[in-house]
Amino acid sequence: MKRDGAMQSLWQVGMDVYNAKNISLPTGVVDVVIVGGGITGVTTALLLQKSGLQCVVAEAHNLCFGTTGGTTAHLNTFFDTSYNEVIKDFGELDAQLMAASARQALNLFKHNVAEYNIDCGYEEKDGYLYAQDKEQWDELEEIYKASKKAGVEVMYADTIPIPVQFTKAIVYKAQAQIHPSKYVYGLAREFEKAGGVIMQNCTVTKVEEKGILVVETSAGDIKTKNVIYATHIPPGVNLLHFRNAPYRSYAMAVTLEDDNYPDALAYDMYDPYHYYRTQTIDGKKYLIVGGEDHKTGHEENTDHCFTRVEAHIRTHYNIDKIVNQWSSQYFEPSDGLAYIGHLPGNPENVYVATGYSGNGITYSHIAAITLRDLIVKGDSDFKEIYEPSRIKMVAGFANFVKENADVVKEFFAKRLAMEKITALADLAPGEARLVKYDGKSVALYKDEDGKFHAVNPVCPHAKCLVGWNNAEKSWDCPCHGSRFSVNGELLTGPARSDLERIDIG
Ligand code: FES
Repeated sequence: MKRDGAMQSLWQVGMDVYNAKNISLPTGVVDVVIVGGGITGVTTALLLQKSGLQCVVAEAHNLCFGTTGGTTAHLNTFFDTSYNEVIKDFGELDAQLMAASARQALNLFKHNVAEYNIDCGYEEKDGYLYAQDKEQWDELEEIYKASKKAGVEVMYADTIPIPVQFTKAIVYKAQAQIHPSKYVYGLAREFEKAGGVIMQNCTVTKVEEKGILVVETSAGDIKTKNVIYATHIPPGVNLLHFRNAPYRSYAMAVTLEDDNYPDALAYDMYDPYHYYRTQTIDGKKYLIVGGEDHKTGHEENTDHCFTRVEAHIRTHYNIDKIVNQWSSQYFEPSDGLAYIGHLPGNPENVYVATGYSGNGITYSHIAAITLRDLIVKGDSDFKEIYEPSRIKMVAGFANFVKENADVVKEFFAKRLAMEKITALADLAPGEARLVKYDGKSVALYKDEDGKFHAVNPVCPHAKCLVGWNNAEKSWDCPCHGSRFSVNGELLTGPARSDLERIDIG
């Protein structure tokens, strides 16, 4: 199973690319085309198919290629946007609705695992949030009170499951965890059994309204009554790109010299915060720790983020072996709540789910429930709180996204002279840099064999300049989060096309 970066996540180990059985392009009109084969796409597809609709999942790479393959898979009834913030900005009723949506999402996980007998390491665990100084303590009190008002089961805790000094802690009951790719593969099987179609390596290039929706894909056109973009952020240029800021987060899976693995989920209160949990795979335990988040494209030496995660783990644990380390992308919504529902600026039967913040796995199922209800019943209890066209913008969000002011002109050289390049870039193998060539920027990467790879660094989405991500060996756009391989291949939207390749002669 491949994902959108060079580092291998724990969820790729031992996982082949999903072997889809129903792969022929439908000829008639289907009910729903779901663009994106991550946890949101596959779960939504299954719910809709089980509701009697004919669905197709179109995935540009393989199932779990994007953030589903790079999550740390915490299932929570609380969110990065805490309930006190939600009450302040939206009111108590919306906080209660949000809490209800999370509880329904967690119930859906539990139901799916039991109903379809999915062997995905699903376990219910308590989730601990702990303060380490007076300021955090005060904030924790606020979070506790607001969580109670929202109707979430939470209480004070005298101990926490990790060997860290703390001043005050609360515990959310009945949270959960899964192995995300095993879970998604299990759902995909059920979806196919129910008659659903999964098309991998199938890129959607356009959706047009022609009385019916026509989805143009690399495998051919599909006619459909509805389209859902479950692509993390919708492609193209849309209002939502100005309301979501892309972030990277870093995770490590390690084995310990002792058996000091936490039997719960845990979160500190720094910004960015650290998160901990244990996953057992084939009888072996792994401690998973994450953090060190930063805005996409704002950090070149992303290796340092792993160094800091490792140093943090070593402060508290005796590491035996670092088994996997990886990073992944998420989108921070402008007002703190996800965007799930009709995609603004599109026909009324085009839907989206995005802006999950650091709570993607929980939101995937909130989205599946909400989108299923919107399409099948025409309404949802959660329609209004997650409405993508809502107006609210928090003050200062414009500065939140690094809108690269130097929107650059098209690069026109298609071929570069080697002598000039070597003179310009003294790169070690495995390194990359933006260099100047005849006054224009070129994104240059030297592979481990000493071969150069050059691409035009102008992002095809809205013409910002990409930056290097050293750990994942990718070119990342700081504006709206598009990502590309060293050869310019599109890894992550909202761009719809690759970076332009430049020959070196
Ligand atoms: Fe928007 Fe690159 S992602 S300009």
